[in-house]
Amino acid sequence: MSDFKPILTEHIHTENSHTLEFYRSVGGYSALEKVLKTMAPDDVTNEVKASNLRGRGGAGFSAGLKWGFIPKEGDKPKYLVCNADESEPGTFKDRLLMTKVPHQMLEGIIIASYAIQAQLAFVYIRGEFYSEYLILEQMIAEAKEASLLGKNILDSGYDLDVVIHRGAGAYICGEETGLLESLEGKRGWPRIKPPFPAIEGYLKSPTIVNNVETLANVPHIINRGADWFRAIGPEKGPGPKLFCISGRVKKPGVYEEPMGISLQDLIYDRAGGITKDRKLKAVFPGGSSSPILTAEETEDLKMDFSGLASVNSMLGSAGIIVMDETVNMVKACLNVARFYAHESCGQCTPCREGTSWLVKILTRLYDGNGTRRDIEMLLEITDNMGGLADFSLGSFGKTVCPFGEAVSWPVRSFIEKFENEFVACVNIGGAVV
Ligand SMILES: Cc1cc2nc3c(=O)[nH]c(=O)nc-3n(C[C@H](O)[C@H](O)[C@H](O)COP(=O)(O)O)c2cc1C
Ligand code: SF4
Repeated sequence: MSDFKPILTEHIHTENSHTLEFYRSVGGYSALEKVLKTMAPDDVTNEVKASNLRGRGGAGFSAGLKWGFIPKEGDKPKYLVCNADESEPGTFKDRLLMTKVPHQMLEGIIIASYAIQAQLAFVYIRGEFYSEYLILEQMIAEAKEASLLGKNILDSGYDLDVVIHRGAGAYICGEETGLLESLEGKRGWPRIKPPFPAIEGYLKSPTIVNNVETLANVPHIINRGADWFRAIGPEKGPGPKLFCISGRVKKPGVYEEPMGISLQDLIYDRAGGITKDRKLKAVFPGGSSSPILTAEETEDLKMDFSGLASVNSMLGSAGIIVMDETVNMVKACLNVARFYAHESCGQCTPCREGTSWLVKILTRLYDGNGTRRDIEMLLEITDNMGGLADFSLGSFGKTVCPFGEAVSWPVRSFIEKFENEFVACVNIGGAVV
């Protein structure tokens, strides 16, 4: 057991931790006061940059660096969007933060908005999170009442409004440009980048999109400093991290640990080991978009950006889905492909057509009507959608957004790592293998 003490989830087990009264009783909004009274906007960005806080929404981009891309000149308004769409299968950490300590996220939003000089911010929350939405509405009302939002926040002369915007249940609206289209009232079709949102985002104005967990870290960095943050976990991607563990484990849930904790510790210690003490077979380390890992690959594996890159996978949303020896990999792969076929926005041909072909072929393999050629065809389709799972080969960019890769990488990894199960399905079907 490490001596790490939770930072983001320290108070989640206390009654009424979601209220402003509670949050203030444990020092909440002191970072905002410090920022508004003693720091210029650039000082805030520089502190976050120095902390090396990397985005917790999937791509792991430096938060401070991204804020620094907001143009200083020009008269366009600036916007901040907190991405609370949380739709990646196996991911449920932002929901916990919003339910239990929403003011921590809001404090991060206000500080980030000040850093980029935005006067309007949004929280884009997935439509299915209705009770969380009500908590956020209460959060906004309390903050306005306490002069933490609106005009002249805490007598500083800085104005900010925050609007909670509910999505309508589309996975692709978690992708930042699909999100921005949706926020503008349009169909959530991702945009081609560049231009990136920091230059041309909401209503073609400079916009920063950050994940809930990313923003929740910000008040702690301001209060305790970039050096303190950088000392937690690995230098190249430090900080506390929420790991969501689900699937075949005894104690599924959200666990806060330093970046770089070993995957084996998370599975066998925090989550209590594999259900019915069965053998581990495979793991999605970062949501269903990350290439799957075999049990052997999980050994001595550090859960941080570099650790996962070293096994050709990714930290993604840190949604760890555990599969035991009884899981049929063709069925699991079909399950994943069905999700993506349903969620493809349909804008690009390789993704729209590819996802439905994957489902058709995997279904006939699983049903016992497939051939060996079908297995080759699955690989060809994934190659045409997003490319190879070997990141060093860099076969990116065949579709408008990274959804194409998010499908092709996991599907390829299933076939490449568990080929024998796919071959065994030929002519027989998955139900009997
Ligand atoms: C298909 C797809 C779905 C995504 N879904 C989410 C999501 O639900 N929540 C999220 O924060 N980021 C999601 N992202 C990542 C966002 O596009 C964006 O990188 C992120 O919100 C930036 O925040 P961060 O820098 O704080 O991580 C998704 C990306 C893709 C390609
Ligand atoms: S890759 Fe798929 S989800 Fe992304 S824009 Fe193209 S069709 Fe839509």
